[in-house]
Amino acid sequence: MIAQINFAGVPTSRVGFGCGRLNGGIHAAASSRLVEGVLKLGIRHFDVAPAYGMGLAEDVLGAALANEAVTVVTKVGIARPPQPGVKGVAQALLGPVLAHLPAVKARLVSKAVQSASRGQFGLEHVEKSFAESLRRLRRDRVDALLLHEAAPADVTAELTALLTDWQAKGRTALLGSGTGKVASGLTKFGEVAQYRWTSESLAEGVIDVVHGVLRYLPKVVEWTPEQVDDLALLGRDPADPLTHAGIAMTRVLALNPHSIVLVSSRNVNRIGALLRAIDWVLVSEPTETSCSTMQRILSNIAVS
Ligand SMILES: NC(=O)c1ccc[n+]([C@@H]2O[C@H](COP(=O)([O-])OP(=O)(O)OC[C@H]3O[C@@H](n4cnc5c(N)ncnc54)[C@H](OP(=O)(O)O)[C@@H]3O)[C@@H](O)[C@H]2O)c1
Repeated sequence: MIAQINFAGVPTSRVGFGCGRLNGGIHAAASSRLVEGVLKLGIRHFDVAPAYGMGLAEDVLGAALANEAVTVVTKVGIARPPQPGVKGVAQALLGPVLAHLPAVKARLVSKAVQSASRGQFGLEHVEKSFAESLRRLRRDRVDALLLHEAAPADVTAELTALLTDWQAKGRTALLGSGTGKVASGLTKFGEVAQYRWTSESLAEGVIDVVHGVLRYLPKVVEWTPEQVDDLALLGRDPADPLTHAGIAMTRVLALNPHSIVLVSSRNVNRIGALLRAIDWVLVSEPTETSCSTMQRILSNIAVS
C-alpha cells in the first residue's frame, strides 16, 4: 500500500498524480481511463491547474473523480488557454501567422504568447479563475490552492487577504505556491511548497510537494562495479529498468516524511510498475545505511 500523509486533516497518498498532460477532446476517454487506473493503484492526490492539458485537464479530472475521496490541488496565476484543447496557445491564436514565420521567429512569438498568460494575479482574474476551476472540477472546495509561478511582487496584501478569506470559509483547506523551478526559485506562500525536486529542502512547517523525480532522472547507461555492489546491498537487480527509478523514488520519499511526490505518465502500467519498484518498508522506516547507500548510487550517476 502507498504510504499516506495527512493533508489538512485528510489522509492521502504520498505519491500524487500530476495532471499536466491530461488532455481532453479526442483524448478525453483515454485520459479518463488513466485517472481511473491511477485511482485503482491507490493514488489519492491529484495536482492540476487551469492551463493543464491545453486547458482541459480540470474538466477531465472533475468528471473522472466524481465522488471519490481524494485530495485535489489547483492553482491560480496562469490563465487557461483562450481556445482550450487546441494544440498550444500560440498555435490557437497565431496558427496562420506562425505558418509563415521562420521556425526560430515562430518559437519566439509562441513563447511571448505563453508568457502573456502568466502572472495573472489581479483579484478579478483570481476570483474568476478559481470559480471556474471549482465548476470544472465539480467541487465546492479544494484541498489546496497554489499560486502558479508567482513572483514575490505578485503576492500583494489584497491577494493574501482574498485567499486567506477563502481559506477561512473552507473553499480551500490549504494555501501554497508552486513552481517548475527548484526550491530556491519558489516564491514562498502559505503551507504548501511545490517545486522541482533536488536535495535542497525548505523550512519546516510546510508540506513539500515535489515533482520532476522521473523527468530529470539521469539515464543509466551502465552501472559501475561499485554501484552493482551497492545495488546488491539493497537487493536490487541492475538489469531491471525500474531499479533506478525505484531507488530515486524511495530515496525522495524517505528523505522527507512530510512530502508528496508527484509523478506523471500517459501509461498507467508504467505508474503501477513504478509503485511496485518503491521500497515501502524503507519509505516508512528508513535506516541510515540504506539511505546512504541509495544516496551513493544516485550521486554517483552523472546527470545527463
Ligand atoms: N508550477 C508547478 O506547480 C508545477 C511545475 C511542474 C510540474 N508540476 C506538476 O508535477 C507533475 C509532474 O511533473 P513531471 O511531468 O515533471 O513529473 P515526472 O513524473 O517526474 O516526469 C514525467 C516524465 O517521466 C516519464 N516517466 C514516467 N514513468 C517513468 C519511469 N518509471 N522512469 C522514467 N521516466 C518515467 C514520463 O514519460 P511517459 O509519459 O512516457 O511515461 C514523463 O515524460 C505535473 O504534471 C504537474 O502536475 C507542477
